[in-house]
Amino acid sequence: MARSIAHQSVADLGGPSSILTLQRNDHVRLARLMDRARATLPTGGATHQVALRAVARLVFTHAFAEEAVLFPAARRALPEGDPLSLRIEEDHQEVNELMARLDMSSADDPEHPERLERTFAVLDADVRTEEDELLPRLQEVMDPRQLRTIGRQWEFLRRTSPTRPHPVVSRRPPGQTLSALPLTVIDRSRDRLQQLGERTGGRLDPLLGPTDRVLALAAGAVERIPVIQYGERPETDR
Ligand SMILES: [Fe+2]
Ligand SMILES: [Fe+2]
Repeated sequence: MARSIAHQSVADLGGPSSILTLQRNDHVRLARLMDRARATLPTGGATHQVALRAVARLVFTHAFAEEAVLFPAARRALPEGDPLSLRIEEDHQEVNELMARLDMSSADDPEHPERLERTFAVLDADVRTEEDELLPRLQEVMDPRQLRTIGRQWEFLRRTSPTRPHPVVSRRPPGQTLSALPLTVIDRSRDRLQQLGERTGGRLDPLLGPTDRVLALAAGAVERIPVIQYGERPETDR
C-alpha cells in the first residue's frame, strides 16, 4: 500500500513546487479556513459569510484545477486512475451542490449548521482520498520532474479558475475546461462586486444587488450550454 503524503518531508514529495506539496499546503489552508467558518457561526451575518466565501474560493479553484489537470494525468498514469478519480469527482459534485445550497441560506437558518458540517465532512473525506490514495500512487509511478510539471500546470489553472459552485457543469474535460473562461470572468466579477459592497458598508447594495443577480443568471445560462456538459459521467450528472 502506498504511503500517505500527509507526513512526508517536502524533499520526499519532490520539492516545494511538486503537485504533492502544493496539494498538501492547500489542504492545510483549507482546514484553517473551515475552522474560522465554524468559529464565526455564532456571530452569524457578514463575518460568517466572509469566512464561508474564503472557504468557497479556495475549494472551487483548487478542485477545478484538479479536474482539469491532476485527474486526467492520474487517468493516463494509473490503471486504477479512472475509478479513483471518479470517486473524488463524486465528492466534488456533492460539495458543489451543498455549497450552492449554503450560498442561498443564511447563518440564522436552523438547517445552516448541519449543512455546514455535512459540507466540511465531504471536504475532509476528499482530502483523505487524495492524500492517502491518489497522490501516493502518483508518487510511486512519477519522477519528481513530472510531479513538478503537474504542479506548475495545476498552480496556473488554480489562479485562473471559477471561484463559485457550478453543480451543472461537467466534472470532466472537455465540458469542464470549456466552462472555465466564461465562468471565471463571471465569478471573479461577482467576487469584486461583493468586496466593493463590503468595503462600502452596504451603501451600494441597491446598485450591486441587481448587478449580482444578472451575473448569477448569466452563470446559470452558461452552465446549461450543451457543450459545457460534454465529458460528464452519469455518476456526477445533475
Ligand atoms: Fe486537493
Ligand atoms: Fe479535491
